[in-house]
Amino acid sequence: MRIYRAKDYEEMSRKAANLIAAQVIMKPDCVLGLATGTTPVGTYRQLVEGYEKGDLDFSAVKTVNLDEYKGLSPENNQSYRYFMNENLFRHVNICLENTNVPNGLAEDAEAECARYNQVIRDLGGIDLQLLGLGVNGHIGFNEPDDAFAKETHLVTLTQSTIDANSRLFDRIEDVPHYAFTMGIRSIMQARKILVVANGENKADIIKKAFFGPVTPQVPASILQMHPDVILVGDEAALGKI
Ligand code: F6R
Repeated sequence: MRIYRAKDYEEMSRKAANLIAAQVIMKPDCVLGLATGTTPVGTYRQLVEGYEKGDLDFSAVKTVNLDEYKGLSPENNQSYRYFMNENLFRHVNICLENTNVPNGLAEDAEAECARYNQVIRDLGGIDLQLLGLGVNGHIGFNEPDDAFAKETHLVTLTQSTIDANSRLFDRIEDVPHYAFTMGIRSIMQARKILVVANGENKADIIKKAFFGPVTPQVPASILQMHPDVILVGDEAALGKI
């Protein structure tokens, strides 16, 4: 694992965006695995800037997102599809047909999981997976558990995740309790993994995940077994390692 230290959020975002940009430049039809949340917003902003400057071309890029809340439509401003459209897709020349997010409105959850696994397989796997880190060590919505879940599945969100995500909703009652998420195996099969983290509230989990025992109780700890992981963090997030 390589760790890139950034002095603040801006620099973390720029370093992460540069790594993604390098991937897009090296392989214009690459498959990017994408994350939502607060952490990668600045990274996406930098990618949009790169596109606007004429340095990046997304016309052949394909994307597959980690997760989506169950029950939210793409038009719901809390859905992850909406987030991706607003933060990246509608600002660059990506074809929307080349972007994939689990369908939060799918009624048959099992069929939706199978469909999403097939999407990932048909794309030939993920070249570069961007990940944020939950304060409880989740990646995607793979929550602490007794075993590592393998492929796309429906999860019941833990109270810690509901509490953490409630900051983005008007009322805590509005936070969905279920979500579709890519599984740990699909994440681990990505050829490269880029983890972004900022802020003091991520310092403990970074220490546990990257320097503690590998355990499904800290899902991100499995990343220690991946051959090509880069962690880009700001001073506060890397403050305990
Ligand atoms: C989002 C996702 C989550 C977040 C994590 C950190 O697609 O999969 O695992 O990356 O909850 O969220 P932030 O960045 O908001 O701290």
